[in-house]
Amino acid sequence: LAFVVWGLHSIALARLVLNVEAVKAKAMTQAQSPILAAAAAKIVVDALPQLSVEQVYAGVDYGKKGADFTIALPRFRLPGKVDEVAKTVLSQFQPNDWIENVIHDKAFLHFTCRTTTLLRLVLTQVHDLTYNTASKQPEYGTNTLGKGKKMVIEYSSPNIAKAFHVGHLRSTIIGAFITNLYRACGWEVVGVNYLGDWGTQFGLIAVGFEKYGNEEALEQDAIKHLLEIYVKVNADAEKDPSVKAEAAKFFKRMEDGDESALVNWRKWRDLSIKKYAEEYKRLNVTFDEYIGESLVGREWMDKAVERLTALNLIEDHDGAKLVNLEKWKMGRAVLLKKDGSSIYLTRDIAGAVERYNKYKFDKHIYLISSQQDLHMAQFMKIIELMEFPWADRVQHVNYGLVLGMSTRKGTVVFLDQIIKEAASVMHEQMKKNEDKYNAVENPEYVSEEIGISAVKIQDMAAKRINNYTFNWDRMLSFEGDTGPYLQYAHVRLASIGRKNPELLPLPEPAAIDTSLLTEPSARDIIFLLGTYPDVVKTAIRTHEPSAVVTFAFRLSHAISSAWEAVIVKGEPDIEKARARLWMYICARDVLGAAMRLLSLRPLERM
Ligand code: ARG
Repeated sequence: LAFVVWGLHSIALARLVLNVEAVKAKAMTQAQSPILAAAAAKIVVDALPQLSVEQVYAGVDYGKKGADFTIALPRFRLPGKVDEVAKTVLSQFQPNDWIENVIHDKAFLHFTCRTTTLLRLVLTQVHDLTYNTASKQPEYGTNTLGKGKKMVIEYSSPNIAKAFHVGHLRSTIIGAFITNLYRACGWEVVGVNYLGDWGTQFGLIAVGFEKYGNEEALEQDAIKHLLEIYVKVNADAEKDPSVKAEAAKFFKRMEDGDESALVNWRKWRDLSIKKYAEEYKRLNVTFDEYIGESLVGREWMDKAVERLTALNLIEDHDGAKLVNLEKWKMGRAVLLKKDGSSIYLTRDIAGAVERYNKYKFDKHIYLISSQQDLHMAQFMKIIELMEFPWADRVQHVNYGLVLGMSTRKGTVVFLDQIIKEAASVMHEQMKKNEDKYNAVENPEYVSEEIGISAVKIQDMAAKRINNYTFNWDRMLSFEGDTGPYLQYAHVRLASIGRKNPELLPLPEPAAIDTSLLTEPSARDIIFLLGTYPDVVKTAIRTHEPSAVVTFAFRLSHAISSAWEAVIVKGEPDIEKARARLWMYICARDVLGAAMRLLSLRPLERM
């Protein structure tokens, strides 16, 4: 991170910040604007030299009771009464360029930053890290915590020929966010999609295809056509047991590598991937690799059974091999079926070994619904028992259920129906305002983008583990905390430059007089902008997209409160208008960065 402190002729303080930033990252507390947090810490250390700067800095927290920062004194376990300690700090306090005031309330010290410094520091930092980076990419909010480390994330992972359900949609949405998040924190990320492309359902499809298959329909939309066949042949199998037997026979041929049984399967798989990739692209999601259950080799499946046998954990049930994990309260699970064929769990074990050998990851996240918590616990316990040195690098990130996802007509859904429906509702809404509608260059694109934002934000607004109910009306509204509202906030900020061309280009930051930003609402916005880098760090610690969503809403609300009072157009003092415009542009840049992190595409017009 580059700190914009040089203009403040305090190289010493800057050095201090650079030193303690590392401590801070480990200490996992949060405070915005490192330089200002360090200045607050320094005030305490100056009065209490027995404490180290690192120690105090790690204790600087977001402000409580209207202050910018708060430090809880008891955490330092100093001898004597907390009151006395606080008084010592207060008696020695001299206002400086960074900290304007300190008050003492019970066990807390509350610090207020000097507004002029805060505004200048934060805006300059946002500006420089957006427009003046060596990479030529916006870097505000990024960090280098993961430098040199590799993370593999597996997400989405739908099953071919079965429905792409909400569980997969959540995994896709949250997975895209976590991918962006790790990249923003300097990690190298490999995103993989582990398709359910193997299993007895392919025997059924093969049987069904002879009866119901249609090449043209397959080419057009393989996902949809294969699911149709699957539904029909399943119904047949219910009535007629010979269908099941025939399907099992067919799948056995596939397992045995019979090429004549595999040709069609391969084609179904390829066409399905093609279709998925198109839909992921619309969602702004890309995978580095499509892998699948079919590609997992046999070697490590057998070794897993061997190892678990040596540990006395394998039971034989009528030829089937079960692992007994009762000792860890994880029940029993089948590893090999009677005919020796593998199942989901076995494939996960062997797959993990193969992935490690291929990627040598420092971390591997599996983004899978909480419905599979037991499965994942069993899987992770087994790789631990197999004593792979990398076993503890594997992490299951889970999420709750989505209730009631269907189209408005109440039918079961495909992913593309969800996108289409969200887009068409948005399109209708936009048409209601004819003037605005005509000003939008590509209303189809814009309405689809807003619709997708609605779906994504609804999904990421609360803690991952919570269940939520899919609600079209709520999510598509421009009011309340929704995706459309965020897009609207961004569009409004993006329009401000277009509406004030006479103020552009803005002079260099140093030539903009930020002391003219005297309104409290301007300070609120800028203070929030300064917190963004810490929001990102919090999010990577918790894998919670809601931390970023909440930030984006707080920022949008702060902007909205300032909008009527802190005007640019119509402000007679041109210097003041410039300073305000700069603030709004910085706000747009940070809101845009947060939205992109959430995998949204921020719009310029709507
Ligand atoms: N295809 C699976 C399903 O739909 C999800 C795969 C999750 N990944 C894993 N490695 N088990 O339930």
